Amino acid sequence: MYVCLCHAVTERKIREAARNGVSDFEELQAATGVATCCGACREYAEETWQEALAADALSRLDSAAQIWSPVI
Ligand code: FES
Repeated sequence: MYVCLCHAVTERKIREAARNGVSDFEELQAATGVATCCGACREYAEETWQEALAADALSRLDSAAQIWSPVI
């Protein structure tokens, strides 16, 4: 789904940015242009960004847990 119509930024693009190490919202804006024109998308873009960061962090924790789990 499109988050930012001015710059055609989708939820997928925001999630990819989080996975690729974009570390803050300003960096996301620089990389994608999201919320840099009319600003109507800002609130939803930030929500989507926070959710993407949380999902990425959980994924990394899950991967780490699998690596360190004892073999039974
Ligand atoms: S809709 Fe994102 S800046 Fe306009």
